[in-house]
Amino acid sequence: MKNSPELVSYGEIRRLKAELADVAAGKAFLLQGGDCAESFAEFNAKNLRDYLRVLLQMTMVLMYGTGLPVVKVGRIAGQFAKPRSSATEIINGVELPSYRGDQINAPEETLAARAADPERLIQVFNQSAITLNYLRSLARGGYASLNRVNKWNLDFVKNSPQGERFEDIANHIDHALKFIAATRLMPENLEALNEASFYTSHEGLHLAYEEALTRSNDEGNYACSAHMLWIGDRTRSIDEAHVEFMRGIANPVGVKVGPSTKVDELLKLIDILNPENEPGKLTLITRMGAGKVAELLPPIVRQVKASGKSVVWSCDPMHGNTEKTPNGYKTRKFNNILAEVKAFFEVHRSEGTVPGGVHFEMTGQDVTECLGGAQAISEVDLKQRYITACDPRLNASQSLELAFLLAEAIKANS
Ligand code: PEP
Ligand code: CO
Repeated sequence: MKNSPELVSYGEIRRLKAELADVAAGKAFLLQGGDCAESFAEFNAKNLRDYLRVLLQMTMVLMYGTGLPVVKVGRIAGQFAKPRSSATEIINGVELPSYRGDQINAPEETLAARAADPERLIQVFNQSAITLNYLRSLARGGYASLNRVNKWNLDFVKNSPQGERFEDIANHIDHALKFIAATRLMPENLEALNEASFYTSHEGLHLAYEEALTRSNDEGNYACSAHMLWIGDRTRSIDEAHVEFMRGIANPVGVKVGPSTKVDELLKLIDILNPENEPGKLTLITRMGAGKVAELLPPIVRQVKASGKSVVWSCDPMHGNTEKTPNGYKTRKFNNILAEVKAFFEVHRSEGTVPGGVHFEMTGQDVTECLGGAQAISEVDLKQRYITACDPRLNASQSLELAFLLAEAIKANS
């Protein structure tokens, strides 16, 4: 991989950083989302098309809600390595190494499957290259054009108590788009919507892989496995190798900020990762949990604001809201996810800071992994289509529904 062409170019990386600087300034909104863990088994064209369609639909809804351009960053084309809280697990009385994502081992519950296999790094690289190529060709080849994206597949709307409100927003967007098209006044912007730009990101966990895809020029080092990398909540301590790696690259970098975050350490981390205080360089992805965000987020936001450091504030309402059902499924409640995002907006409104974006684990497939939403997925429904390789994802309907509810909340607050 050291000699292969990189997956993304320096110019694209710099362009994303500039777009994130707009997000930090409140002039654009960040939508980051995709699988918790990509997998070899679920790699096919339909899954990629469905994913892109939902992401673009969410984009349209959020554009409507925020009145801002939406910067689309996929958790895709490289999101294969998982941090685990424990190195092993007991399955039927046998201790097995934990599954660490398809980049490292296989999910099947046998010793052989759980052995780390370095050949997987090559497969990750190849799958990422094919994924990126396919998404780019769809995005640029008209799949993302307004007319298509606007054919809302709101199946869930029909049977939903919120149905009328959803349809109302969808109709508003439709009218606005028709009006813009009729005026023929903004051909350049329409062109931009027809060729939706799309960036990639993943957790920069596997440093050997990241290093092999890092390239340098006079201006610095670029991690060319994706446009943006983030540091997970388990590896953000300032003496971690992951921090050392990320401080050496010119890419925009994210940091997950969970409930155990100490503000003074976070301020040091911000200095280490963004010593020049470059806008767009650093995104703080807060993931506190619906019940904790109102208490834990304000002091962090306040002190980062007081430090004068420019950051993008984004909300991951997934990882602080994971729970296990009595029947053994790792899940998340739609209402908790919504509650955390709403609380995030509230906190930033009262602190006078910019709620820059959201970070979701989502899929375009009709899975049953998260509870609730208009489809009212219940605990007994989970077993029907629970196929995630790691954490529970919002399905296509839940993702779009969340975007609608979010857009509505943002509009109501503004
Ligand atoms: C993730 O984003 O999949 C993840 C593991 O998040 P966190 O580091 O916030 O727990
Ligand atoms: Co996850």
